Amino acid sequence: MSLGERSRELGRSLFYTGKNWITILGFILTTGTGASLVIFWGQELVSTHPIHPYAGIVLFLILPALFVAGLLLMPLGMFLRRRKLRMAGELPTEYPKVDLTLPSVRKLMLGVGLATAANIIIVGTASFKGVEYMDSTKFCGLTCHTVMQPEYTAFLNSPHSRVGCAQCHIGPGAGWFVKSKLSGTRQLFAVLFKTYSRPIEDPVQNLRPARETCEQCHWPQKFSNDKLFIHTKYADDEANTPATSVLMVKIGGNTAMGQVGIHGRHMADGTTITYVSTDGHRQVIPKVTYTDKTGKTIVFESDDFKSIPADKLAKAETRTMDCIDCHNRPTHAFELPERAVDEAMSSRAISTDLPFIKKKAVEVLKVDYPSREAARTQIPAAIAAYYQASYPAVFQQHKDLVDQAGQAVLAIYLRNVFPEMKLTWGSHPNNIGHEDFPGCNRCHDGSHTSADGQTIPADCDTCHVLLAQDEKDPKILKDLGLAK
Ligand code: HEC
Ligand code: HEC
Ligand code: HEC
Ligand code: HEC
Ligand code: HEC
Repeated sequence: MSLGERSRELGRSLFYTGKNWITILGFILTTGTGASLVIFWGQELVSTHPIHPYAGIVLFLILPALFVAGLLLMPLGMFLRRRKLRMAGELPTEYPKVDLTLPSVRKLMLGVGLATAANIIIVGTASFKGVEYMDSTKFCGLTCHTVMQPEYTAFLNSPHSRVGCAQCHIGPGAGWFVKSKLSGTRQLFAVLFKTYSRPIEDPVQNLRPARETCEQCHWPQKFSNDKLFIHTKYADDEANTPATSVLMVKIGGNTAMGQVGIHGRHMADGTTITYVSTDGHRQVIPKVTYTDKTGKTIVFESDDFKSIPADKLAKAETRTMDCIDCHNRPTHAFELPERAVDEAMSSRAISTDLPFIKKKAVEVLKVDYPSREAARTQIPAAIAAYYQASYPAVFQQHKDLVDQAGQAVLAIYLRNVFPEMKLTWGSHPNNIGHEDFPGCNRCHDGSHTSADGQTIPADCDTCHVLLAQDEKDPKILKDLGLAK
């Protein structure tokens, strides 16, 4: 049989076996969903409103799935009919001729051809859009609302709020994309059956190595010099007495002087720092191994390393240090009440003129509210009630400041406490610094020494120059022209 004859024969057999309800149903399904998809994409092009995440599930995942199901039903119907006919011995040895001279048949063939072309385009576009949608911040952050609410809320308040979840959690390349979709499927079941942990546990065990994600945008070799930090704390007294610290943090990097400072020393090319952690949260680090460019290693052990039982050590995690061993909260940075209130007072979101506001705000934040809804009414009410009862004159005169403070305190609560996810103050430690959590002191505590007597340095000027510590009006700020 020549090629032409064979394809003609195939065409006829398709035409013949295509007349069955499964194929027709598939055709209707595909045409229907295909048309809806095209109309919707057109609308999306002109609309300025972002799509609601639940609508997204229908439009980006369910409709395309039905479309593909329709495409699959068509050949399935043909196959089944063919098989049935063959079993009944009714399969024609020669299919009835399809008369191509008939205009109706030609139209039908043309229609099928066009539909096939359209289908290919629709499948391509739909898969592209589906993937784009599943990697979108809205899908990750809002679809399983309760579960991701804490991370999404913190993310929105972070310097990375314009960076998509996928940029850090998946990053570039196909391998991690597939991995993330597999683990996403597992997570979907965890949400359906409510088996996820509350709060979601840290650390994330299978996070992509940070150097492959963070370094898409940040380049540690580019860091140099120092970074200035000014922190003001307020006391628990009536005047909310301020105390300001000013520090130059030696973030360093790759400079003409070599690998210096914080980034230079831990992230230098060719050097690696590995550590052993025994608590499951990377907060207790009894052993650190430092390998320099030449391959020379120094092993530092903490004072109590020797007393750790062997079985506990066997279960410990060994890890190579990367960005997130310090920046474990680059975007999901949950605060502590004292520090959050200090910051709100520094930025005047909470007025420092209200007597005892620091003390009262922290007290109100630490109450165990049954739900975020309850907190919404109780927090502003508690602040107002306090001034009404204890400082009626202040309340009369500065009701606006009291209300504003109530709202600012509530905002702090809503950013940090999620009773449904059992996430509360301090649930997720932040490893930058050493005042609130162990942070740098997990290794730089003066107790990590090597066999030859070297110690991971812990002097106060190793990492920063303290230009002022807890001063009322630091002179240095005046000198720098930064005094308020
Ligand atoms: C700037 C990078 C970055 C972005 C953007 C980002 N994350 Fe994360 N996320 C991290 C890092 C790093 C961790 C790991 C923390 C750890 O292991 O201690 C993490 C941890 C998490 C966790 C585990 C729980 C926790 O708080 O440790 C969840 C859930 C999560 N992210 C969800 C999201 C969602 C949803 C988005 C988008 C709305 C998002 N992330 C955006 C970097 C990022
Ligand atoms: C897609 C790009 C992108 C990725 C990926 C990314 N960042 Fe960033 N990051 C930014 C931008 C942009 C800023 C600056 C935001 C600003 O100045 O407000 C920033 C700021 C920061 C800052 C300074 C925050 C501050 O308070 O000033 C740190 C620290 C940081 N990123 C760490 C990380 C870490 C760690 C990762 C990987 C887990 C990461 N970033 C991944 C774009 C990115
Ligand atoms: C040993 C701890 C440590 C490691 C490891 C580390 N950083 Fe940092 N990084 C810091 C500290 C401390 C600061 C200063 C405090 C801050 O900005 O939050 C900082 C600041 C930054 C900033 C802000 C710089 C600026 O000028 O505002 C960025 C961006 C950053 N780091 C990215 C990274 C990336 C990317 C990596 C991984 C390649 C990394 N860091 C590894 C401790 C570390
Ligand atoms: C996992 C352990 C570990 C953690 C956590 C850690 N470091 Fe280090 N750090 C080291 C080791 C090891 C060295 C190299 C010590 C040496 O040079 O002998 C080092 C060196 C340094 C140096 C250079 C010191 C010098 O004299 O040259 C600075 C600065 C520094 N670290 C800052 C920090 C800061 C800031 C943090 C917290 C954000 C931090 N480190 C967290 C292990 C750690
Ligand atoms: C291993 C590095 C390292 C060492 C050693 C170290 N610090 Fe720090 N310190 C940091 C980092 C990082 C921060 C956080 C900077 C920031 O983000 O504000 C910090 C923050 C501080 C702050 C500001 C706290 C606040 O938020 O108000 C004070 C005060 C401070 N350090 C004092 C000290 C003193 C005193 C010593 C010596 C006993 C010391 N530090 C040793 C790294 C270090």
